[in-house]
Amino acid sequence: MAKLIIRGGNRLEGVMRICGAKNSVLPILAASLLVSEKSVLQNCPALSDVRLASEILRRLGCTVEREEDRITIDPAHADGTVIPEKLMSEMRSSIIFLGAMAARNGRAVLSAPGGCDLGPRPIDLHLAALRKMGAEIVEEGGIVDCRVNGRLHGAEIRFPFVSVGATENVLIAAAAADGATRILNAACEPEICDLAQFLIRCGARITGAGTSRIIVEGVRKLHGCEHRVIPDRIAAATYLLAASVTGGDITLSDVEPQQLSAVLPRLQETGCELSVGSRRIRVRAKGRPKALSPLVTAPYPGFPTDAQAPFMALCCIADGTTAFEETIFRNRFRHAAELNRMGAEIGVTGQSAVVKGVPFLHGARVSATDLRGGAALVLAALSAEGETEISQVHHIDRGYESMECALSSLGASAVRTETWQIKEENRIIRTAFAM
Ligand code: UD1
Repeated sequence: MAKLIIRGGNRLEGVMRICGAKNSVLPILAASLLVSEKSVLQNCPALSDVRLASEILRRLGCTVEREEDRITIDPAHADGTVIPEKLMSEMRSSIIFLGAMAARNGRAVLSAPGGCDLGPRPIDLHLAALRKMGAEIVEEGGIVDCRVNGRLHGAEIRFPFVSVGATENVLIAAAAADGATRILNAACEPEICDLAQFLIRCGARITGAGTSRIIVEGVRKLHGCEHRVIPDRIAAATYLLAASVTGGDITLSDVEPQQLSAVLPRLQETGCELSVGSRRIRVRAKGRPKALSPLVTAPYPGFPTDAQAPFMALCCIADGTTAFEETIFRNRFRHAAELNRMGAEIGVTGQSAVVKGVPFLHGARVSATDLRGGAALVLAALSAEGETEISQVHHIDRGYESMECALSSLGASAVRTETWQIKEENRIIRTAFAM
């Protein structure tokens, strides 16, 4: 198993390009199943989740080819109806294939999805919505068996609370259903708009994406298209924070600053200087970060839950105390205990956390608890005195393209080491001491 070894204290400087958004490309890959011709997606990040989604498409009969950041999907022979349990268990967003499979082949057999352990992650909203659109769904022994007699039909879907994934599943299914679907209390995330844009390019009739009320007029046939995935706003936030915690000065290119409207003011509040241009953001850290006023996560355009852990890493070394409230997921502070191993002072009570800033963190052996929690550990390690060894790096690889290479290009001391290398190094050190 790989580990990241990070020696803290290097100031980050330079320019960095932000890759395409993981949370956009995954539902778009699922949606490509509905299309009758080839789709070409540009700006696809090289992430393990994207490889998994491509593998699911292949298992369903698609031809999927990747060339640099372009993925071409040909679904001409996609008559598969089963996603193997192993693939489902590795990625939460595999549930996003349900709507597309039901709409395309009238049958979908899959198991409960895996992904980050952020507390219970039910799929009841996905299932209830598809049932309302005419799907018959049986859940037994962890298997979801979904059948559609003929075609799905349009319906009024009113979500009791906002769900990004359920909104995406319904949007995809409704695009090819009979009649109109109204999605009420829909998620408004930029990734929903990107998915809608892809579907519209393929001939879907969708209005209101980006608002809480989306109307979809189902069409009989969707054609292929070429689509460029939007930039990853969470990766952008993470790297801006990496500059801040190291007293650095970096410029991000290929970003959409307006999609970071809840994040950038928070960075300024910590004392950073920001210059925002069209598709560029420069951050210049000014001394020790200041603590933040209470930070409460909320659906878009609120403060993103995915940026909560990276911000917590910064608050660990801020001057003052910051209160966090996580309103989306029940168990999204698992990184706090790992940060405390590095000298942080974080107290967690249920879905609230209080972070008392300390002047500096120290290196330690820590473990990535989930994707964004892992990113938080990387940020903490960059700012810490000494060396940090981060295990369970596969979580981080789900959402960041070779994070150690990206950070090294900005001046960080970050390398990836396979376990056998660490063992080998320890053996050499032990041997040297024995001599
Ligand atoms: C997506 C993002 C994830 C982000 C999250 C919230 C992707 C691949 N992942 O996850 O990075 O953190 O949005 O912005 O895009 N819920 C139910 N029943 C359901 C569905 C959801 O109770 O059927 C609950 C969840 O447990 C959670 C809340 O609703 O408490 C929001 O989850 P949701 O917006 O669906 O998150 P994901 O789509 O899984």
